[in-house]
Amino acid sequence: MNILILGSGGREHSLAWAVMQNPKCDRLIVAPGNAGIAQIAECASLDIENGGAVVNFAEANAIDFVIVGPEAPLAAGVADRLREAGVLVFGPSAEAARLEASKSFTKEVCDASGASTAAYARFTKAAPAKAYIQEQGAPIVVKADGLAAGKGVIVAMDEQTALDAIDDMFGGAFGGAGAEVVIEEFMDGEEASLFVLCDGENILSIGTAQDHKRVGEGDTGLNTGGMGAYSPAPVLSAEIEARAMDEIIRPTMAEMKRRGAPFQGVLYAGLMIKDGQPRLVEYNVRFGDPECQVLMMRLGAQAMDLMHAAAEGRLDETRVNWADDHAMTVVMAANGYPGDYEKGSVIKGLDNLPEDSSNMVFHAGTKAVEGQIQAVGGRVLNVTARGATLQEARDRVYEMVDGVDWPEGFYRRDIGWRAL
Ligand code: AMP
Ligand code: GLY
Repeated sequence: MNILILGSGGREHSLAWAVMQNPKCDRLIVAPGNAGIAQIAECASLDIENGGAVVNFAEANAIDFVIVGPEAPLAAGVADRLREAGVLVFGPSAEAARLEASKSFTKEVCDASGASTAAYARFTKAAPAKAYIQEQGAPIVVKADGLAAGKGVIVAMDEQTALDAIDDMFGGAFGGAGAEVVIEEFMDGEEASLFVLCDGENILSIGTAQDHKRVGEGDTGLNTGGMGAYSPAPVLSAEIEARAMDEIIRPTMAEMKRRGAPFQGVLYAGLMIKDGQPRLVEYNVRFGDPECQVLMMRLGAQAMDLMHAAAEGRLDETRVNWADDHAMTVVMAANGYPGDYEKGSVIKGLDNLPEDSSNMVFHAGTKAVEGQIQAVGGRVLNVTARGATLQEARDRVYEMVDGVDWPEGFYRRDIGWRAL
């Protein structure tokens, strides 16, 4: 099979790494890719949010199967254009991608299906939104409706913060994404993520993970795209996972089908767990980054067969062959991230690190310049390892991290602390 992966992050490097291990893959192109991906696959420049351009590229390169990494091309309808052109694709339609692109849409679907989530109200004007906040009191959560690059959620521990968030959102701080606001009940508990593949009809769990969103050790400081992750998530026991499937995932998928927008791809459910009860925080319609890196490390080559089966509507014929293992990834980021950071610093020491089925450095924001690897993004490397226990995976990861020579970068030394 000729395969095309869309995206350029650590997520896509790990997808490419898993796909390359599968003997069914004859040729792999990643667009646009990065310096690490270029070491294992072909990279091509392509406007991945332009459905017409992606279809033309797939046809010109005799692509048999497309895997879409990030949400933006999905929300832009790239999977729809590919399907219309008869190209097999892993990823939901734009309509089904609204489960991530619109918080109010997700809430509507939860209402209709009875999926367990926080109580909420929607507003398009500031005055009634503020009155609602004053009536409900703090803590309370204010969310811009649309895609806001992970920054459109304010968890307000006091009323004034919530009221200020309303002014910011209706004042245009999040552009069009803030034209509608969802105000939610604050949910207490421990967060974890559940990843399931769906083919429109069947659902298959492919693992759990927990990430660390804050930049600083002890989960302090500013929010980031994620500073590290591990899988499985001990808090999401088999029993709680089964509840999440029955009370959240299956009802949602059934409701999407009922609406004529069956979901095909990976559904990433952010859950809040308290007293054995999971509730939905949010859906994403793609793999998490860096959660994908630990899932791929655990699934290996079979990941491609599973995604292919989802795209072909054959998930009922598949199962996951689990090794009883644990994986961890630690993000190395440029000094200053998530604020301003310098680009162009040189990363050394990568050639001396082990790269095999249990140890891998996935690249995110890197570029090869005259034989050297340069940092060109905020999150730059995902140092990833697998072990029989989380402790073993952790020890391997930090041994590799210590081998990276990059004074202009930093990382958290406490990834996995909750589980360890
Ligand atoms: P979201 O983009 O919806 O995942 O929100 C980002 C983060 O805000 C989540 O990962 C949670 O930590 C937090 N959050 C969102 N909604 C709630 C809620 N209703 N109660 C408590 N925390 C929340
Ligand atoms: N790591 C969080 C996300 O991918 O949304």
